[in-house]
Amino acid sequence: MYEAYFGLRGKPFQLNPDPSFFYGSRGHRRAMAYLEYGLHQNEGFIVITGEVGAGKTLLVRSLLEKLDSKKIVAANLVSTQIDADDILRLVAASFGIPSKHLSKSDLLLAIEAFLVSTTAAGKRALLIVDEAQNLTQKAVEELRMLSNFQLEDHALLQSFLVGQPEFRAIMQSPEMVQLRQRVIASYHLGPLDLQETQAYVEHRLACVGWKGNPAFDPEATREIYNVSQGIPRRINALCDRIMLAAFLGEQRRVGVELVNQIVSEMREEQVTPTAVGAPPVPVGSAQPAAVALDLQRLLADPEAAKLLANAGPSFDMTRFDERLALLERTLSTTLNTLSQLLKAAPAQQEAGAEGGAPAK
Ligand SMILES: Nc1ncnc2c1ncn2[C@@H]1O[C@H](COP(=O)(O)OP(=O)(O)OP(=O)(O)O)[C@@H](O)[C@H]1O
Ligand SMILES: [Mg+2]
Repeated sequence: MYEAYFGLRGKPFQLNPDPSFFYGSRGHRRAMAYLEYGLHQNEGFIVITGEVGAGKTLLVRSLLEKLDSKKIVAANLVSTQIDADDILRLVAASFGIPSKHLSKSDLLLAIEAFLVSTTAAGKRALLIVDEAQNLTQKAVEELRMLSNFQLEDHALLQSFLVGQPEFRAIMQSPEMVQLRQRVIASYHLGPLDLQETQAYVEHRLACVGWKGNPAFDPEATREIYNVSQGIPRRINALCDRIMLAAFLGEQRRVGVELVNQIVSEMREEQVTPTAVGAPPVPVGSAQPAAVALDLQRLLADPEAAKLLANAGPSFDMTRFDERLALLERTLSTTLNTLSQLLKAAPAQQEAGAEGGAPAK
């Protein structure tokens, strides 16, 4: 809507992780370096964790774009609450291995045969699991078992596990000791700092032909940083609204007043406060402050009112928001999984008819 007005080729702050917008902050460059290091090691696990919206999926997609498909056969699967059996099927589907009607032991044999043939063809197999915080313990255990496959001295599979901060806690649990022994490197992707936030905003704008219109005042960028806490998804959501407001107000400059106006509008709308414009977390506080709500004003549905009233007078909006974000993510990962399965279906039928495993 505002793109043409500012002479831009496209939307600069879309929420989908598009590698052509990749900005190499210090953290993103380091995370990428860890993944590239893992590719050279060609065994074990690399674990990348990061805050919600920090850019993990974008990192994975950017890496996949760079990979030489003549040398590396990569499978990228997005995890929902998958159980042990399903994870093997999903791994098989992601690599294009026919798995229909196979028992678990046959499935394992099929995966091993595929990995052996990939290695024999001079290629390496890479498995990337995004949203790894959703894996059940048993599913993680199955992935560990896959990493045991070897041909002579060489591991047949390299795995990257990418997940939200809770995956770090999962990894620390006593049950994960065997997996931990196979982790060759891990890295936590944090938020951008103030300078990076400014560079990030300008980089995304420049990707669509920005020539300084609208100009962002330094105080405006500082406020964007304060409100977003340097989390790219929040920066995007906020900047998209700022651009729209600048267009509607015919402004060629973004000042701190405009940022403040948008932030308070978003708070009034209660648009996913932690995802968009949550108040900065007070220094020294581990949790964002709970939002005090006037439930009488907020609710029309008496059933919902009763439910929320039971939640206590200081209903914690941030937890509510977390649930919403979780539901949103689960929906998107389910769709992703379904589309991967659909993609794999014709390959399975074909291979079933020919009686062989397709190589990528
Ligand atoms: N380094 C970056 N350069 C450009 N855009 C980025 C960068 N990091 C994140 N973004 C943008 O921020 C948004 C969120 O990124 P992404 O979806 O990758 O986050 P995530 O860490 O995978 O989030 P979640 O925890 O919800 O899975 C996307 O629009 C993405 O394009
Ligand atoms: Mg993600």
